[in-house]
Amino acid sequence: MTRVLLTGGTGYIASHTAVALSERGHEVVLLDNFSNSERDVPERLRRLTGKAFPLIEADIRDVPTVTAALSAHPVDAVIHFAALKAVGESEADPLLYYDMNIIGTIRLLQAMQESGVRRIVFSSSATVYGQPDASPIQEDAPTRVQNIYGRTKLVMEDLIRDLARTGKLLAAANLRYFNPVGAHPSAMIGETPRGVPNNLMPYMTQVATGERPHLSVFGDDYDTPDGTGVRDYLHVMDLAEAHALALEHICAHEVSVTVNLGTGIGISVLDLVHAFERATGRKIPLKMSPRRPGDVASNYANPEAAARIFGWKVQRDVDDMCRDAWRWQAARAGINDV
Ligand code: NAD
Ligand code: WQD
Repeated sequence: MTRVLLTGGTGYIASHTAVALSERGHEVVLLDNFSNSERDVPERLRRLTGKAFPLIEADIRDVPTVTAALSAHPVDAVIHFAALKAVGESEADPLLYYDMNIIGTIRLLQAMQESGVRRIVFSSSATVYGQPDASPIQEDAPTRVQNIYGRTKLVMEDLIRDLARTGKLLAAANLRYFNPVGAHPSAMIGETPRGVPNNLMPYMTQVATGERPHLSVFGDDYDTPDGTGVRDYLHVMDLAEAHALALEHICAHEVSVTVNLGTGIGISVLDLVHAFERATGRKIPLKMSPRRPGDVASNYANPEAAARIFGWKVQRDVDDMCRDAWRWQAARAGINDV
């Protein structure tokens, strides 16, 4: 059993991870400033797990408050989710991203150092690979960040690797997520993007509820089997379980690793639309549109390291991802025929 603090603990991926950790017997403490999450998430987690996780409302850049939280709730490790994550916004406001993500991570690491917490699991992203030479992508592929969000992820990874190399951290896992989608099958927690969703799955679920008239397919002339972009979508509960396994591994072996988290299966935009229509019985009106600047044709993981090191294997397929994403969005929209 491990006691662990989740920064950004009421956000999309962290809330699902809290459930997975709790199911495996770990003790969870949540820290969030609610800048991109809903106030009712802790209560939803309580109903879902039967446990009231301690919650600290704080900004990760506030070292005294985070240090006090770690003193009131001593933990063995931190899982660091708190960050800003919109590529477009990062290009529009670079200082905001450097401040929240890089300064935020430095401040968190300082609070951890002051409190003697020396293990971290970090939310990195496949965005660090930029335009890969080929897919599947292995962890030793060159990193080629193409936007400020991606750069902040790489700098945060480097910070953590440096602290591990110099012995300041005992153990660290940099987890490079590919494209997390879906929700807990209970439909009690899920993703709540603010404003117009940037990502394919949340946008599609809002088309399915009738909140948006159609889905724009950004490019159908890529060098892929059907011309649309290929990505590695993974169910957020599989991702959540990977965090529990990564945490257990680094705590047991006091090691530091950098690992991809994806299924290894490339799925095109049209594949995902068809899977969604199949899983939900809803038709998604499409509009073929120009390519989105900065998009790559194809990007999917080689997930063998996570399997070999953590014993992680995905349990859910694309139909599960679509069904659970839809259950969550339909529940929010008050649609009951799901
Ligand atoms: P999210 O926005 O739902 O969760 C982030 C949480 O952090 C939110 O609850 C937000 O309120 C909180 N937060 C932000 N800044 C904070 C601060 N300064 N202090 C305290 N709390 C703060 O995002 P998510 O999709 O759950 O992503 C979690 C992590 O995973 C992020 O680091 C993100 O970059 C990374 N990631 C996400 C994806 C994805 O597609 N969702 C892919 C790869 C990596
Ligand atoms: C997937 C595919 C689009 C919306 C982004 C971030 C990345 C990571 C995950 C955090 C692409 C197409 C999309 C739409 C479409 N996040 N699409 N119509 O771009 O792979 O990755 O989220 O780390 O950093 O860049 O995900 O869901 O935006 O796009 O046709 O309305 O769907 O062109 O081929 P992406 P996505």
